[in-house]
Amino acid sequence: MTSVGGASATTIGILGAGAMGAGIAQVAVTHGHPVILVDTSPAVVANARSGISKALDREVEKGRTTAEARTSSLERLTAVAVPAGADLLALASAGLVIEAIIEDLRAKRDVFLRLEAVLPESTVLASNTSSLSITAIASGCRRPERVVGIHFFNPVPLMPLVEIVPGLATEASVTTAARSLVDGWQKTTVLAKDTPGFIVNRLARPFYGESLRIYEEGVADQATIDWAMREIGRFRMGPFELMDLIGNDINFAVTQSVFEAFFYDPRYRPSLTQKRHVEAGLLGRKSGQGYYDYRAGAVRPEPTKNSELGQRIVDRVVAMLINEAAEALFMGLATAEDLDLAMTQGVNYPKGLLRWADEIGVSTVHRRLQALQEEYGEDRYRPSPLLRRMSQEGRRFYHA
Ligand SMILES: NC(=O)c1ccc[n+]([C@@H]2O[C@H](COP(=O)([O-])OP(=O)(O)OC[C@H]3O[C@@H](n4cnc5c(N)ncnc54)[C@H](O)[C@@H]3O)[C@@H](O)[C@H]2O)c1
Repeated sequence: MTSVGGASATTIGILGAGAMGAGIAQVAVTHGHPVILVDTSPAVVANARSGISKALDREVEKGRTTAEARTSSLERLTAVAVPAGADLLALASAGLVIEAIIEDLRAKRDVFLRLEAVLPESTVLASNTSSLSITAIASGCRRPERVVGIHFFNPVPLMPLVEIVPGLATEASVTTAARSLVDGWQKTTVLAKDTPGFIVNRLARPFYGESLRIYEEGVADQATIDWAMREIGRFRMGPFELMDLIGNDINFAVTQSVFEAFFYDPRYRPSLTQKRHVEAGLLGRKSGQGYYDYRAGAVRPEPTKNSELGQRIVDRVVAMLINEAAEALFMGLATAEDLDLAMTQGVNYPKGLLRWADEIGVSTVHRRLQALQEEYGEDRYRPSPLLRRMSQEGRRFYHA
């Protein structure tokens, strides 16, 4: 196959110059690649170019790069507007094209077909989709074997993790080439099966879902749950402040899409409380109110700093997170190492979930889940068969 593997001279084509496309372009030019960045909107193209230029200026000010390196990075960037439906010949010289347009399967299939019409057979086609199946995007292509998922996180220049996602038809050499190229961009890559939410967006669901459930049951208020997860669980942010930062509309949409894509598995069932917040326009920081009030003069509610209650909250949410990671390992989503790397690098978890399971004790985690399942009688709390087996056999996820 292909010319992408590691060569810094490979031209990178990027389709979609929004938040993600522009971020990917910035990273690629700073790593020596000529980049052709394309969007349908001239205003977005202009905005992306000036955004990248300003970001590189800041890098120079902070002493992280030189003025010369900044200038040559910008010289490597070509940003052009191509009207919707027009041919994509502007990308013909690319060895890898990364698609980062709107999250819509029909729109993505359409641009992949139009890319195939102008690109040589050796060009690798990648999608930055967060929630669509790579296999489904590739299925409309003449050569689905050259299509792969390269899932960056926002903001791209700052977030170290990238999930590499082969579809069912993807050639192994395409996956390897994509991974080694992105590894060369000082990113941490993990390999994930093409399943809903890939690694991070799937494994993180219980962080929000179980916290919302605890809140709905009246076990504790949002301030207490956030306090417990931060102070006792050592997470960087509590679930409610994080949902307010992400936006309740976005967070709800991710949960709903994972729930639907897993054929309504109750483990991923969205929360009515969150849905009502979205309906009420309580989206979080961006709307001024979410689970907290961000308007001027608002007083932040005080948590109940009861360490016994806090520990119970953390134990319950962490057991659910570990169960999700164990089930993902059981179903071959990724290796234990990659599952753990994804959560520490992608969402700054204090520890990898499987390493955390070893630390708590696999059988303790299993017992906590069994107790929850018994108490609620809900399938949501069913322990992963892997966790049950490991608990019975006294096994750990890691040897050391
Ligand atoms: N924002 C995130 O946090 C995030 C994280 C990871 C992955 N993603 C994924 O990355 C993709 C882009 O997300 P974003 O947040 O940058 O969106 P965005 O809305 O900021 O940008 C999308 C851009 O695509 C352009 N566009 C739409 N149709 C096009 C077409 N046919 N040809 C060329 N350009 C077209 C739009 O004009 C827009 O500028 C989506 O698939 C999204 O799911 C987003």
